[in-house]
Amino acid sequence: MAEVDLRTAVNAISDVIQNRPRPLRIYDQIYMKAGDMVMQSELIARWTNGKRVAFIGDGDAISVSIAYLHNRGILDYGPTKIVVFDFDERICNAVKRFADKERLEQLDAELYNCLDPFPQCGKFDFFYTNPPWGASNGGDSVKVFLGRGMEATGGSGEGVVVIADDDDLVWPKVVLKNVQEYALAQGFYVQKMMSQLHEYHLDDAPNLRSCNLAFRAVPDSPRVLASNAIAPEVLENFYGRDNPPRVRYVREKKRLEYGIADEDEYSLELLDGAS
Ligand SMILES: C[S@@+](CC[C@H](N)C(=O)[O-])C[C@H]1O[C@@H](n2cnc3c(N)ncnc32)[C@H](O)[C@@H]1O
Repeated sequence: MAEVDLRTAVNAISDVIQNRPRPLRIYDQIYMKAGDMVMQSELIARWTNGKRVAFIGDGDAISVSIAYLHNRGILDYGPTKIVVFDFDERICNAVKRFADKERLEQLDAELYNCLDPFPQCGKFDFFYTNPPWGASNGGDSVKVFLGRGMEATGGSGEGVVVIADDDDLVWPKVVLKNVQEYALAQGFYVQKMMSQLHEYHLDDAPNLRSCNLAFRAVPDSPRVLASNAIAPEVLENFYGRDNPPRVRYVREKKRLEYGIADEDEYSLELLDGAS
C-alpha cells in the first residue's frame, strides 16, 4: 500500500460504511470488511488514476470510497469519472446522496439490471465488479457481470473482478478457471491475480476470501460490440442453487439515514412520569 495516513483513511471509510444500506443476502449483497475496504480502495484508486470507471454492482461502496478518499486529499490519485450501475435503488440513491453531500462531482449512479442490455457501451476505460460468485453455477453469474464490464469499456481497456479464492474449496477453483477462459475468449488476458485479499460479513462462511483478478484487453482483438443477451440456463442458479433472478429492481421505500436506527427497530419504555 502506498503511504497514506491510516487513521484518516479508516475514519473516511467509516463515513462511507455509515451510508451503506443494509445488505440483502438473497441477492448476494455481502459487504466487505472495513480494513479490506481501505486497502482495496487505495489499490483501485491507484490503478484507475485519471480513468473513467464503471462499477457493475457495488454494494461494498468501493466506488464511493475511492472518490471520497481522493476528494479529501487522503489519496492524491483516483478516477476522473465513476458510475455505479446497480439494480438496487437504495444503493444508487445512497451513492448519489453521498456524492451530493460531499461534493464528489466525479461520482454518479444509475439504476441498471445486468440482465438488460448495457446502456453506455464503450464510455469507460476501466470496469470493476464484485458479482455473485457463482458457487452453484460454475461462474456463469460472474461471466454476466464481467461481460457487462467489458461492454462498458467497449471490449478494450482494463478491469477487475473480485471473486472467491479459497485453498480448501473446489468450486472457487472451477469458477476461476471458467471465468479466465471466458475472458480469454473475449480478447482479455489475466494481467494479475492477487490471492485471498478480502474478508466479508458472511455468517455461513466467515473465512471465505476473495481475490482481485485483473484483466486487460489484447489490442486489436475482436471487440465485444453489441450488448450480449443472457442464455436462460445461466439464470437457474444465478444467486445460488434454485435461486434465479425474480426482480428487475429493488426499489427504495423511504429515504433512510443509514447510520441511524430506524423507528421500526425499537420501541421506547418511558421513565415514570415522562411523556
Ligand atoms: C452481487 S453483490 C456481491 C457482493 C459484494 N460484496 C457486495 O455486496 O456488493 C454486488 C452488487 O451487485 C448488485 N446486483 C445484484 N444483482 C444485480 C443485477 N441483476 N443487476 C445489477 N446489479 C446487481 C447488488 O445489489 C450488489 O450491490
